[in-house]
Amino acid sequence: MALVGLVGWRGMVGSVLMDRMAAERDFDLIEPLFFSTSNAGGVLPAQIAKLAKNESRLHDANDVDALRRCDIIITCQGGDYTTAVFPKLRSAGWKGHWIDAASTLRMNDDAVIVLDPVNLPVIQRALAKGNRNWIGGNCTVSCMLMGVAALYKAGLVEWMTTMTYQAASGGGAQHMRELLAQYGTLHAEVKALLGDPASAILEIDRRVIARQRAMTADETANFGVPLGGSLIPWIDRDLGVGKQPGEAGWGVSREEWKGMAETNKILGQGDGFGTPAVPVDGFCVRVGAMRCHSQALTFKLKKDVPLAELEAMIAADNEWVRVVPNNREATLRDLTPVAVTGMMTIPVGRIRKLAMGPQYVGAFTIGDQLLWGAAEPLRRMMRILLSG
Ligand code: HSE
Repeated sequence: MALVGLVGWRGMVGSVLMDRMAAERDFDLIEPLFFSTSNAGGVLPAQIAKLAKNESRLHDANDVDALRRCDIIITCQGGDYTTAVFPKLRSAGWKGHWIDAASTLRMNDDAVIVLDPVNLPVIQRALAKGNRNWIGGNCTVSCMLMGVAALYKAGLVEWMTTMTYQAASGGGAQHMRELLAQYGTLHAEVKALLGDPASAILEIDRRVIARQRAMTADETANFGVPLGGSLIPWIDRDLGVGKQPGEAGWGVSREEWKGMAETNKILGQGDGFGTPAVPVDGFCVRVGAMRCHSQALTFKLKKDVPLAELEAMIAADNEWVRVVPNNREATLRDLTPVAVTGMMTIPVGRIRKLAMGPQYVGAFTIGDQLLWGAAEPLRRMMRILLSG
């Protein structure tokens, strides 16, 4: 039975991964070794002890010799851990499979971004060539491709823009807590006025903005500015200004840069594949949602394709995508972060031709960024390795 080392299982993505692996009975197929950066030698906590077989203690996640025993390592521990441990492990001659949620290795030539419902052929070709590094994609890109990869697979996309509405969870657990604390603070500020139907809405508004602007560094420690009742049109690092359109440096945030770089790499096209990349660009915006990333997409297609055909292609691409009829009732019911949270389904709605012409198509899609955006592609990659 394959020895599978699990690192970072306690964090938010790791916890979702453990739940999904338990739900899909992945633990029936493996001997899991649970690693810890902080409590090596400790007894397995109850929530994971029930998943273990012969192991009852936590191993040291920084001990290369302990890690080298594993056939497969899955880590959700984060980029610093990957940077510190992965090179040492490979230098020590470890030939196992490294499956990683962090972005550190994603764009390396010897790493494949895994999203098998979209790029199984890319994964299989790399496996046949002996690739051993499998990295989960950026959550926004993975959720987007789970929804609309059909159009890319059919070679229909000349370019795409994506305007995102990204949830607090993309920043991490502390960001979610901060968002909710801010909502609570703002509500407390005007609770009495809200309770009085005769109060003036502009007075409520004045007090809310005053409280938002007065938020302390502690109250905004994670996002830097208030997110509750506001939005932040910048996600991840500033890559600076000054090179070529589409490249890092063209005034894009790192999150926006990933849109084009990762979409093409997942699809096995562009740099390193000897084929042209499809331009993908847009703006990534943090909004006050909890864990679902939403995005408005605009496509320029290479030719005019009837809407019904496009909808049928999208719907048939994989078993998780759901086309939501482009009407108000269905949109309010099925196409909101509240409707999609905790779901494996990826709804794609608002599909329509745009006023710019018959080759221009708009769509809106949502995904739970902790499921398809983070945990699910990792456990599925493990399954592919186990079945090989
Ligand atoms: N970078 C993403 C975000 C999450 O901040 O929403 C991880 O892909």
